[in-house]
Amino acid sequence: MIDDPDLAALFAAANASRLKAYAPYSGFSVGAAVRDDAGAVHHGCNVENAAYPVGTCAEAGAISAMVAAGGRRLSAVLVTGGGDGLCTPCGACRQRIREFGDAETPVIIAGPEGVRRRFTLGDLLPESFGPENLADARGV
Ligand code: THU
Repeated sequence: MIDDPDLAALFAAANASRLKAYAPYSGFSVGAAVRDDAGAVHHGCNVENAAYPVGTCAEAGAISAMVAAGGRRLSAVLVTGGGDGLCTPCGACRQRIREFGDAETPVIIAGPEGVRRRFTLGDLLPESFGPENLADARGV
Protein backbone atom coordinates (compact mmCIF):
# COMPACT_ATOMS: atom_id res chain seq x y z
CA MET A 1 0.00 0.00 0.00
CA ILE A 2 1.42 3.36 -1.07
CA ASP A 3 0.00 6.30 0.92
CA ASP A 4 1.06 9.13 -1.38
CA PRO A 5 -1.58 9.23 -4.20
CA ASP A 6 0.86 10.75 -6.72
CA LEU A 7 3.32 7.96 -6.08
CA ALA A 8 0.55 5.34 -6.10
CA ALA A 9 -0.55 6.52 -9.58
CA LEU A 10 3.01 6.34 -10.86
CA PHE A 11 3.46 2.87 -9.39
CA ALA A 12 0.13 1.62 -10.80
CA ALA A 13 1.00 2.84 -14.30
CA ALA A 14 4.49 1.31 -14.22
CA ASN A 15 3.26 -1.97 -12.82
CA ALA A 16 0.46 -2.27 -15.41
CA SER A 17 3.00 -1.58 -18.14
CA ARG A 18 5.42 -4.17 -16.70
CA LEU A 19 2.71 -6.81 -17.00
CA LYS A 20 2.53 -6.04 -20.73
CA ALA A 21 6.29 -6.14 -21.32
CA TYR A 22 7.59 -8.09 -24.31
CA ALA A 23 10.63 -9.83 -22.87
CA PRO A 24 10.77 -13.36 -24.35
CA TYR A 25 14.58 -13.44 -24.46
CA SER A 26 15.59 -12.20 -21.01
CA GLY A 27 12.38 -13.14 -19.23
CA PHE A 28 12.87 -9.91 -17.27
CA SER A 29 9.84 -7.63 -17.51
CA VAL A 30 10.26 -3.96 -16.68
CA GLY A 31 7.74 -1.15 -16.42
CA ALA A 32 8.42 2.56 -16.15
CA ALA A 33 6.22 5.56 -15.52
CA VAL A 34 7.15 9.21 -15.69
CA ARG A 35 5.31 12.29 -14.52
CA ASP A 36 5.67 15.42 -16.62
CA ASP A 37 5.65 18.97 -15.30
CA ALA A 38 1.93 19.29 -16.08
CA GLY A 39 1.26 16.31 -13.80
CA ALA A 40 0.42 13.82 -16.56
CA VAL A 41 1.68 10.25 -16.22
CA HIS A 42 3.16 8.35 -19.18
CA HIS A 43 4.32 4.76 -19.13
CA GLY A 44 6.23 2.15 -21.08
CA CYS A 45 7.65 -1.36 -20.91
CA ASN A 46 10.68 -3.10 -22.32
CA VAL A 47 10.25 -4.42 -25.86
CA GLU A 48 12.86 -7.01 -26.82
CA ASN A 49 13.80 -8.18 -30.29
CA ALA A 50 15.21 -11.34 -31.87
CA ALA A 51 18.09 -9.10 -32.95
CA TYR A 52 19.00 -8.51 -29.30
CA PRO A 53 20.57 -5.02 -29.40
CA VAL A 54 17.46 -3.61 -31.06
CA GLY A 55 15.39 -4.16 -27.91
CA THR A 56 14.30 -1.09 -25.99
CA CYS A 57 14.06 -0.34 -22.27
CA ALA A 58 10.90 0.53 -20.39
CA GLU A 59 12.24 4.01 -19.57
CA ALA A 60 12.78 4.75 -23.25
CA GLY A 61 9.16 3.82 -23.98
CA ALA A 62 7.80 5.96 -21.14
CA ILE A 63 9.88 8.98 -22.17
CA SER A 64 8.87 8.53 -25.78
CA ALA A 65 5.20 8.49 -24.73
CA MET A 66 5.73 11.69 -22.74
CA VAL A 67 7.36 13.48 -25.66
CA ALA A 68 4.68 12.28 -28.08
CA ALA A 69 2.03 13.69 -25.72
CA GLY A 70 3.80 17.07 -25.69
CA GLY A 71 5.66 16.76 -22.36
CA ARG A 72 9.16 18.19 -22.20
CA ARG A 73 10.10 18.08 -18.48
CA LEU A 74 10.19 15.15 -16.09
CA SER A 75 9.19 15.70 -12.47
CA ALA A 76 9.48 12.05 -11.39
CA VAL A 77 10.42 8.63 -12.75
CA LEU A 78 9.46 5.23 -11.35
CA VAL A 79 10.91 1.95 -12.62
CA THR A 80 9.74 -1.49 -11.56
CA GLY A 81 11.20 -4.91 -12.26
CA GLY A 82 10.99 -8.41 -10.86
CA GLY A 83 13.51 -10.40 -8.85
CA ASP A 84 15.04 -9.40 -5.53
CA GLY A 85 17.42 -6.76 -6.84
CA LEU A 86 16.90 -3.10 -7.61
CA CYS A 87 15.87 -2.45 -11.21
CA THR A 88 17.84 0.76 -11.54
CA PRO A 89 17.95 2.35 -15.01
CA CYS A 90 20.78 1.27 -17.29
CA GLY A 91 23.43 3.83 -18.21
CA ALA A 92 21.78 4.81 -21.48
CA CYS A 93 18.42 5.34 -19.74
CA ARG A 94 20.04 7.50 -17.06
CA GLN A 95 21.15 9.74 -19.89
CA ARG A 96 17.67 9.62 -21.46
CA ILE A 97 16.20 10.77 -18.16
CA ARG A 98 18.85 13.49 -17.97
CA GLU A 99 17.66 15.03 -21.22
CA PHE A 100 14.31 15.95 -19.65
CA GLY A 101 15.27 16.07 -15.97
CA ASP A 102 18.01 17.34 -13.69
CA ALA A 103 20.07 16.26 -10.69
CA GLU A 104 17.06 16.63 -8.38
CA THR A 105 14.66 14.50 -10.45
CA PRO A 106 13.40 11.65 -8.25
CA VAL A 107 14.08 8.16 -9.64
CA ILE A 108 12.05 5.70 -7.60
CA ILE A 109 12.75 1.98 -7.86
CA ALA A 110 9.99 -0.49 -7.16
CA GLY A 111 9.23 -4.20 -7.29
CA PRO A 112 5.86 -5.90 -7.66
CA GLU A 113 5.23 -5.38 -3.94
CA GLY A 114 5.85 -1.62 -3.94
CA VAL A 115 8.59 0.98 -3.62
CA ARG A 116 12.05 -0.37 -2.78
CA ARG A 117 14.33 2.63 -2.87
CA ARG A 118 14.45 6.28 -3.89
CA PHE A 119 17.28 8.03 -5.66
CA THR A 120 17.72 11.30 -7.44
CA LEU A 121 19.10 11.39 -10.96
CA GLY A 122 22.14 13.13 -9.46
CA ASP A 123 22.79 10.02 -7.33
CA LEU A 124 22.66 7.77 -10.39
CA LEU A 125 24.38 10.04 -12.91
CA PRO A 126 26.67 12.51 -11.14
CA GLU A 127 28.37 15.36 -13.02
CA SER A 128 26.17 14.60 -16.01
CA PHE A 129 26.20 16.16 -19.44
CA GLY A 130 22.90 17.67 -20.55
CA PRO A 131 21.34 20.23 -22.87
CA GLU A 132 22.69 23.17 -20.84
CA ASN A 133 26.25 22.07 -21.52
CA LEU A 134 25.65 22.58 -25.23
CA ALA A 135 23.87 25.90 -24.69
CA ASP A 136 26.74 27.17 -22.48
CA ALA A 137 29.27 26.53 -25.24
CA ARG A 138 27.31 27.91 -28.18
CA GLY A 139 29.36 30.42 -30.13
CA VAL A 140 32.55 29.71 -28.13
N1 THU B 1 15.62 -3.17 -18.81
C1 THU B 1 14.78 -2.09 -18.81
O1 THU B 1 13.81 -2.04 -19.56
N2 THU B 1 15.05 -1.09 -17.95
C2 THU B 1 16.02 -1.13 -16.99
O2 THU B 1 16.11 -0.21 -16.20
C3 THU B 1 16.94 -2.25 -16.94
C4 THU B 1 16.79 -3.28 -17.99
C5 THU B 1 15.31 -4.27 -19.72
C6 THU B 1 16.18 -4.41 -20.92
C7 THU B 1 16.01 -5.88 -21.26
O3 THU B 1 14.83 -6.04 -22.04
C8 THU B 1 15.78 -6.54 -19.91
O4 THU B 1 15.42 -5.50 -19.03
C9 THU B 1 17.01 -7.27 -19.39
O5 THU B 1 18.10 -6.45 -19.39
